[in-house]
Amino acid sequence: MQPVIQINNLQKSYKGGFQALKDINLDIDRGEIFALLGPNGAGKTTLISIVCGIVNATEGSVTVAGHDIVRNYRETRSMIGLVPQELTTDAFETVWATVSFSRGLFGKAPDPAHIEKILKQLSLWDKKDSKIMTLSGGMKRRVLIAKALSHEPSILFLDEPTAGVDVELRKDMWNVVRGLQQSGVTIILTTHYIEEAEMMADRVGVIRKGEIILVEDKNTLMRKLGEKQLTIHLHEKLDKIPEKLSKHGLELSDNKEALVYTYDTAAGRTGITGLLADLNDAKIRFNDIETQERSLEDIFVNLVHEDEEDEDE
Ligand SMILES: Nc1ncnc2c1ncn2[C@@H]1O[C@H](COP(=O)(O)OP(=O)(O)OP(=O)(O)O)[C@@H](O)[C@H]1O
Ligand SMILES: [Mg+2]
Repeated sequence: MQPVIQINNLQKSYKGGFQALKDINLDIDRGEIFALLGPNGAGKTTLISIVCGIVNATEGSVTVAGHDIVRNYRETRSMIGLVPQELTTDAFETVWATVSFSRGLFGKAPDPAHIEKILKQLSLWDKKDSKIMTLSGGMKRRVLIAKALSHEPSILFLDEPTAGVDVELRKDMWNVVRGLQQSGVTIILTTHYIEEAEMMADRVGVIRKGEIILVEDKNTLMRKLGEKQLTIHLHEKLDKIPEKLSKHGLELSDNKEALVYTYDTAAGRTGITGLLADLNDAKIRFNDIETQERSLEDIFVNLVHEDEEDEDE
C-alpha cells in the first residue's frame, strides 16, 4: 500500500541561514501511530509545520495521499488535523463556538452531532459553554485537539500533545488517540516522554539536529529492550575468554575484570544456569553478579549522545 505521507529529500533553512532540517526522507503508513522523538530544537515542529503547509520547505517534496502539499495545498490541508505545540486559543470564545468555527474554516457544513461527539470523547462536554480563558491548561490542550478534529481529518498531527497534562489525563488522551486510530485516522505525534512512545506508537523515529537518525518498528525496539545484561565481576583478571566459554557469546570488559553476558528475558531459556555451570567447570571464580535492563530511554540517550561524540572527533 502506498504510504499516506511521503517526505522526500526535505530540507529547511530559516532566514538567516540556520538549517533546521537536512535531507529528511520518511514515509508514514496509513493507519499507523508514528512517534517522533527528539531533543529540543531537533526540528520536530519544523517538520510537522512543513507537512501542514505552515512553513515552506527549502528543498524536497512532500505528498499527502499522493497529492503534492504545495500544488494541492487545499486538498492536503483538509485531510490534516494539527494540534500545535503552543497553546493558541481564542480566550473569549466558548469551547463550542471555537470548535464549531474551526470546522467552518475548512469549508465543511455545520455538524453539531459531530462536534458533540468529539467534545464528549475528550471529556469537554460539560465545559462546552465555558469561555476558554476559564479552563485549565490541560483542558485548553484538549480544546486544541477538538479543534483539530472538527473537520474530520484522516491524518492527525499532535505536537507534544501531553506536555503539561497530568498523568491521569495523559492516559485518557492516549485512549482517545487509540480510538481515533481504530476509526482509521493516521497519527503522528511528537513527544519528549519516551513512555508515551512506548505506550502508543507502532513505529518510532528519532530526530536530532535536523536529521532522522533512527526509524524502527516499536516491537523491534521493545525486543531490544527485552535484552538484559549480566555482568560477572571476576575474582582475578582474565586475558581472554576461555575456549570452554566461547558458546555463550561473552564479552570481556575493557579492564579485564568482568565478563558481560547479554540475554533475552522474553526467551524461555536465558542460558544463565548453563553459563554458571561452565564458569565453575573452567574454574573461574567471581565476586559479584549484577544485571542491567535496557530501556528505550537508554537507547534514546545513547543514540543522541553517540552522535555528539562522533562530531567531537
Ligand atoms: N521561525 C524560525 N526562524 C528561525 N529559526 C527557527 C524558526 N523556527 C524554528 N527555528 C529553529 O529551528 C530549530 C528546530 O526548531 P523546532 O521548533 O522545529 O524544534 P523542535 O524539535 O520542535 O523542538 P522542541 O522539542 O523544543 O519543540 C531550532 O534551532 C529553532 O531555533
Ligand atoms: Mg517543537
